[in-house]
Amino acid sequence: MVRSRFLVLVYTLLFLAVMASSVSSSSDRLKRGSSLSVEDRDPLHLVSPDGTFACGFHGLGGNAFWFSVWFVSSGDTASAVVWTANRDRPVNGRGSRLAFRGDGILALTDADGSSVWATNTTSTNAQWLEILDSGNLVLKDPLGTILWQSFDYPTDTLLPGQPLTKNIKLLSSLESGGYSSGYYSFFFDSDNVLKMLYDGPDISSLYWPDPDLTIFQNGRSNYNSSRIAVLDGSGHFLSSDQFQFNSSDRGPGISRRLTINHDGNLRLYSLNKSTGTWSVTWLAVPQHCKVHGICGQNGICLYTPEPKCTCPPGYEISDPDDWNKGCKPTISMNCSKIHPVKFVQLPFTDYHGFDLIYSPNASFNSCRQLCLDDCNCRGFTYRLNGERTCFGKSLLFNGYNQPNFQGSFYLKLPVSTASSAIVVLRSKNTSCRNGGNLVSIGSPSMYDSVGSKTKWVYLYSFATAIGTIEAFVVLMAWLISFKRDGLPMVLEEGYRVLSGQFRKFSYKELKIATQNFKDKVGSGGSGSVYKGTLPDDRVVAVKRLGNMYHGDEVFWAEVSMIGRINHINLVRMWGFCCEGRNRLLVYEFMEKESLDKHLFSGNPLDWKTRFKVALGTAKGLAYLHHECLEWVIHCDIKPENILLDTDFEPKISDFGLAKLLQRDRANPEFTQIRGTKGYMAPEWALNLPITAKVDVYSYGVMVLEMVRGVRLSSWVRGKDEEGEDQEMELVKFVREMKRRMEKGEEVCTEDVVDERLQGEYERNQAARMIQVGVACVEEDRHKRPSMDSAVDILLGSCDGSILKPQPDVANSGIVEIPAIG
Ligand SMILES: *[C@@H]1O[C@H](CO)[C@@H](O)[C@H](O)[C@H]1NC(C)=O
Ligand SMILES: *[C@@H]1O[C@H](CO)[C@@H](O)[C@H](O)[C@H]1NC(C)=O
Ligand SMILES: *[C@@H]1O[C@H](CO)[C@@H](O)[C@H](O)[C@H]1NC(C)=O
Ligand SMILES: *[C@@H]1O[C@H](CO)[C@@H](O)[C@H](O)[C@H]1NC(C)=O
Ligand SMILES: *[C@@H]1O[C@H](CO)[C@@H](O)[C@H](O)[C@H]1NC(C)=O
Ligand SMILES: *[C@@H]1O[C@H](CO)[C@@H](O)[C@H](O)[C@H]1NC(C)=O
Ligand SMILES: *[C@@H]1O[C@H](CO)[C@@H](O)[C@H](O)[C@H]1NC(C)=O
Repeated sequence: MVRSRFLVLVYTLLFLAVMASSVSSSSDRLKRGSSLSVEDRDPLHLVSPDGTFACGFHGLGGNAFWFSVWFVSSGDTASAVVWTANRDRPVNGRGSRLAFRGDGILALTDADGSSVWATNTTSTNAQWLEILDSGNLVLKDPLGTILWQSFDYPTDTLLPGQPLTKNIKLLSSLESGGYSSGYYSFFFDSDNVLKMLYDGPDISSLYWPDPDLTIFQNGRSNYNSSRIAVLDGSGHFLSSDQFQFNSSDRGPGISRRLTINHDGNLRLYSLNKSTGTWSVTWLAVPQHCKVHGICGQNGICLYTPEPKCTCPPGYEISDPDDWNKGCKPTISMNCSKIHPVKFVQLPFTDYHGFDLIYSPNASFNSCRQLCLDDCNCRGFTYRLNGERTCFGKSLLFNGYNQPNFQGSFYLKLPVSTASSAIVVLRSKNTSCRNGGNLVSIGSPSMYDSVGSKTKWVYLYSFATAIGTIEAFVVLMAWLISFKRDGLPMVLEEGYRVLSGQFRKFSYKELKIATQNFKDKVGSGGSGSVYKGTLPDDRVVAVKRLGNMYHGDEVFWAEVSMIGRINHINLVRMWGFCCEGRNRLLVYEFMEKESLDKHLFSGNPLDWKTRFKVALGTAKGLAYLHHECLEWVIHCDIKPENILLDTDFEPKISDFGLAKLLQRDRANPEFTQIRGTKGYMAPEWALNLPITAKVDVYSYGVMVLEMVRGVRLSSWVRGKDEEGEDQEMELVKFVREMKRRMEKGEEVCTEDVVDERLQGEYERNQAARMIQVGVACVEEDRHKRPSMDSAVDILLGSCDGSILKPQPDVANSGIVEIPAIG
């Protein structure tokens, strides 16, 4: 794996070098009777007069070569190529050639002489092969008439000025970074309407425009039979079926490409010539799960908020490298043999198409009975909007989960498949730190570049077995990224097997659980917290959020994202309630309350516990910043938000709330919840970008407080006039510690550590905590360590050299994380 990555890198570099050199060592046309071969170095390529496009041979690694047209100034190989003659038949690196033969044909032959590709220009007087500034590769006669052009045979890309007509279509590639033909196409259908189709190994299915709506409802027209669509030079696309759009950077002078990607979405990209990178300026299917076929048979697409594929209970992924193969049942589902059966509810989920039973206005029980009675019924969708509609399915394709879907899917399963475990798995070697990761649909990189590492997070869960239908739930099974990559699975330290599941509670349930919100155990900027007991005897903390005007969907999506974040040092969220104006969150209850109650009380924490809390908190934050499904910045780290369980294991509470509340534009209180004075990083006041380093700062203040045993932060609290002097105290303390460290002295801890401990503490640990604390409260956020490094220092597994300036990680943070869909 590593080796092949390396090779890919080498070839990419070679390719880039060749691309760069091609500007100098190339001609602008090829004469009849001459040829290009893969081995030729001079000239290898034709370049358009203004230098925008080049064409010639190139490889992606190995000995396979393609004859292609590409953007010269694009950064990486895969996103540079706009047209390929032999996408499904690469030729050998030795002896293959493109010949402009004496009979007028341009032909590509492989090393063994077999013809791979040729133009239809037999016995014409074609004289020249040229690449034009538009990216069109043409054969011209001596008078300049075009006899053949690559624009008539697009692959997956349409360039400005290149018409899409009734005889041609765009066909996606099979995988990112490759050229071979895939399953998605963009074309004019026989009814004159532009459409997108998934044509996979098992099924074909139209998914754009919305197949549930009529042509007219989709804003199209089928009257004009000319069937022509074109993107103009300023980024305006117009089709004869009245479909049109503008690129978001509408205007002339920008290089653009309209590409149907391997994931089935159609995107318009603009090239930044100075960086060679592409940005998306229009997207056909913003809700990516509506693309058909992406998760294969039985698979379900859901937003995390990035779209991911998952398998329903009772099913497992067929081929981890290829989601088109979908999910297979874990036990045989031969319909005559799976009695007795039960139905498992998949809320907000539907499978599109393959309706075996259609019964409008059916009661739930009759729908269930219809599906029970039909051996071929694999499950049914029961829609709740307006009339209750029943759809029994013979095949499960195009599954998607969408918070606003009014209805559920009820999956037929043998009674024996039952389990209610959730296991969170992830690979150990993957790192969030090298770049984009989990590319979201709103702002994807051009393609997922071949060498880039992907973070792997697997959530695995099963539904509660349900005999009778009333029961709720099921979230998902394998939750896997689209990316086809290895599939390492390591159950890691810090993760737990959980039972029970994340769910929605009714207001009434919570009212009963908390005895009408009787026992208030805390309150903060984001709301009040009440202790309660669920009917299953779990003790919970119910947080009542202040006024929030979120739409249900947004709240649902956000909260379920938070609900999936799971780490031993994070307070577990068990569910939520969203009814009318009421927004409540249900957490596990922490017996020992919050850290401040122990740290600053008359009965101080012993040293062992303090260190454990410092380390656990650092691990929890490192997880939030670097490893979990979606990077989360906490924004309000302070002792009040560190809760302790019966074993004094620290658990960070309120994570994810900053984002939740920030989303709520109508909430004018945001300034209040974004931090607590004394723990807030200077960035807040200076109006600098907010990154994960704000949490590092707050953590630093807190760690120093844990060493000192007093509210250090209170020194900076207080009235404005005194504020400065008091702040000097913290700064003074830090300066003194720094002075000691710089002198190379063993940091003398005796006069610093909480005197209530009467000298009973670990010198080394205290020194390391001071070291971390001081580094974390650096004014300049770039000088603060990441939380990962903080953990390493605390563990003593590295020396202080790690405290060099570290680039900001997770700087996509709460502020920029794109919204769902
Ligand atoms: C080659 O095919 C294209 C597209 O089908 C057509 O427009 C063109 O006339 C053909 N050329 C010759 C010389 O047959
Ligand atoms: C059909 O569409 C084409 C391209 O948009 C346009 O030029 C032509 O005028 C249209 N024809 C009719 C009858 O509207
Ligand atoms: C695109 O921009 C043009 C010119 O500004 C405008 O006439 C047209 O309505 C726009 N189309 C869409 C779909 O926004
Ligand atoms: C291209 O990228 C550079 C560096 O990110 C940026 O400064 C510049 O504004 C970009 N240009 C355009 C046209 O977006
Ligand atoms: C299902 O079971 C029946 C009866 O045993 C058998 O005849 C049939 O071939 C089986 N079908 C499949 C798809 O395995
Ligand atoms: C739907 O069912 C209800 C109750 O069974 C009935 O009152 C109603 O008339 C039905 N509506 C239609 C359109 O059949
Ligand atoms: C994963 O990391 C371990 C050490 O942390 C290393 O031994 C192993 O080779 C790595 N595996 C891969 C596939 O990089």
